[in-house]
Amino acid sequence: MKKRKGIILAGGKGTRLYPLTLAISKQIMPVYDKPMIYYPLYVLMEAGIREILIITTARDNSIFKELLGDGSKWGVHFEYAIQNEPKGLAEAFVIGEKFIGKDNVVLILGDNMFYGGNLKEILKRANARENESTIFGYKVNNPNQYGVVEINEQGKAISIEEKPEKPKSNYAVPGLYFYTNDVIQIAKNLKPSARGELEITSVNEAYMKKNKLVVEKLGRGMAWFDTGTHDALLETASFVQTIQKRQGLQICCPEEIAFENGWIDKKQLENLSISLMKSDYGKFLRGLAEDID
Ligand code: TTP
Repeated sequence: MKKRKGIILAGGKGTRLYPLTLAISKQIMPVYDKPMIYYPLYVLMEAGIREILIITTARDNSIFKELLGDGSKWGVHFEYAIQNEPKGLAEAFVIGEKFIGKDNVVLILGDNMFYGGNLKEILKRANARENESTIFGYKVNNPNQYGVVEINEQGKAISIEEKPEKPKSNYAVPGLYFYTNDVIQIAKNLKPSARGELEITSVNEAYMKKNKLVVEKLGRGMAWFDTGTHDALLETASFVQTIQKRQGLQICCPEEIAFENGWIDKKQLENLSISLMKSDYGKFLRGLAEDID
């Protein structure tokens, strides 16, 4: 299978979270017990992606490096890049050109959280699609707040509209995009939109024109949150707290996925737990290493 690399776009100004984000990145904010960036990172690791580029503002770059390092502790490899101004999601592929090289790529936004039953299978399917690109459709009851995708009988996207007054479907497009390698060229040829951004919708339109944009529907059992407002941040945190307390499990835990994928062994997992032992998170990791169900 053609290799696929991952990009987490974790720049932006986070103005809807002011004053929280006046001095620090949104993607460092806590979502219950973990920094926000753990959640999109978990998705990439669940998709089997081990080479990941983390794009941040210049201001916040060092804090992400301090948090995540080079990835070796989790059996993955992180690289870092800077986006000086929030010039749009599609700029990720211009900034990431060298990192992507000749491989396919998946982009996830640093403030998106996905959790649910068949996520792994869906990611696997999208990953395996070597010659077509994949976006996702999540049914919402207020589609006019989102990018809305219209899907034909073959499961291909036929229109995408940003915050439409009259949505053509109830499917919102979350911040997770699997693209073929030509996304680099597509992004490099884009002109900034009226709001001065390289728009991801323009990238999707380029694939739609070639009939190469598959939409995977995220079903009922799937939770998708974008944590960009104070209420959304609190709601997502409550969701995480509720499930974790009920089950005594961690959700979206990178160390657990690294262990499950065989990227780190029991001893490494145990070592990772040591400095975290005063928290339930650390105790969970220790339990995993000791094989307690
Ligand atoms: P947004 O929520 O659209 O922007 P933001 O994070 O700056 O927040 P606000 O609207 O409150 O000012 O961005 C979605 C995600 O994409 C978020 O994780 C930040 C990231 N992003 C970038 O890293 N660079 C960009 O140019 C844009 C537009 C977003």
